[in-house]
Amino acid sequence: MGTFTKILIASIFVAYVAVKWTTPGFDPESLRGARVLVTGASTGIGEQMAYHYARLGAEIVITARREKVLQQVAEKCLSLGAQKALYIAADMATDSDPDKVVDFALKKLGGLDYLVLNHIGPSPFTMWEGDVEHTKWLMKVNFLSYIQMAWRALPFLEQSKGSVVVVSSLLGKTTSPFVAPYTSTKFALNGFFGSLRHELAMKKSNVSISICILGLIDTDSAMEKVSGITKVPAYPATDAALNIIITGATRQLELYYPWFTYIMTITKDWSPSITNYIVQNSYNYNP
Ligand SMILES: NC(=O)c1ccc[n+]([C@@H]2O[C@H](COP(=O)([O-])OP(=O)(O)OC[C@H]3O[C@@H](n4cnc5c(N)ncnc54)[C@H](OP(=O)(O)O)[C@@H]3O)[C@@H](O)[C@H]2O)c1
Ligand SMILES: *[C@@H]1O[C@H](CO)[C@@H](O)[C@H](O)[C@H]1NC(C)=O
Repeated sequence: MGTFTKILIASIFVAYVAVKWTTPGFDPESLRGARVLVTGASTGIGEQMAYHYARLGAEIVITARREKVLQQVAEKCLSLGAQKALYIAADMATDSDPDKVVDFALKKLGGLDYLVLNHIGPSPFTMWEGDVEHTKWLMKVNFLSYIQMAWRALPFLEQSKGSVVVVSSLLGKTTSPFVAPYTSTKFALNGFFGSLRHELAMKKSNVSISICILGLIDTDSAMEKVSGITKVPAYPATDAALNIIITGATRQLELYYPWFTYIMTITKDWSPSITNYIVQNSYNYNP
């Protein structure tokens, strides 16, 4: 590594730490009584977010497809201290359910402060074999339902000076094998919400948009897919969940969790061949 590269990396690191230290502090009290809708909250990171919001005394609506599981999560939220915990079963692959869920939350909570978009449809961790139908379906679940819900909620978030929190991925910033449909949906999210955020700023909107870039997180669904195949370390879902909540509450533009996803994002275009080498060598693949 040349001296110049070393200095550049060191200065970026220093700048990053400085930015982290000067970002506004998180006041847990700010979430007491906050009206929150969390999608994909029956399991994984969404479930953990529901529990954190509950402990912080928020009023929560959770959604996913499995009603029985949602009921159990909602009960646990109440026992943890949520002021309200309601659930609605919905399939984000349908045309009408995204609106139905937003309307339900608005009605039950009398408005909305945080729209936390987190759900994803299951998708295989395999090489692309031409399944266009699956990709269309995944686009609907992971992307189109997000923009539909955000648009529906936006006027109400304007009134409450609220926030849209989009859970994205390092795979929305950089590419990797075995996830072509999934990574497409995450790139789409980053592009769309990045564009919308410019427009809201130009309109002097009251609404903040936070885009959360996550690395590998130890949820059951993720671990099932990659264990034994990837060498990338997995980080705890409960910690990822808390970081997402803080990012939304402090109205930051982006979250990078764990921290090295930031380094990967800013360095990936400097030398595509080195990046490709690193990515391709982080998997165990023997044809
Ligand atoms: N885990 C990771 O390594 C990782 C890394 C980077 C980013 N992320 C992002 O973090 C977020 C959460 O990931 P996760 O690992 O916690 O996911 P997960 O455990 O697989 O949970 C997905 C959630 O979405 C719901 N869901 C699935 N299909 C749905 C549909 N058609 N309609 C409505 N809800 C549906 C699931 O519940 P039902 O089955 O009950 O519907 C579940 O609650 C995602 O946006 C993901 O892209 C995760
Ligand atoms: C922001 O909120 C104020 C009320 O607090 C409202 O008058 C204004 O119209 C809102 N801004 C937008 C762009 O809707």
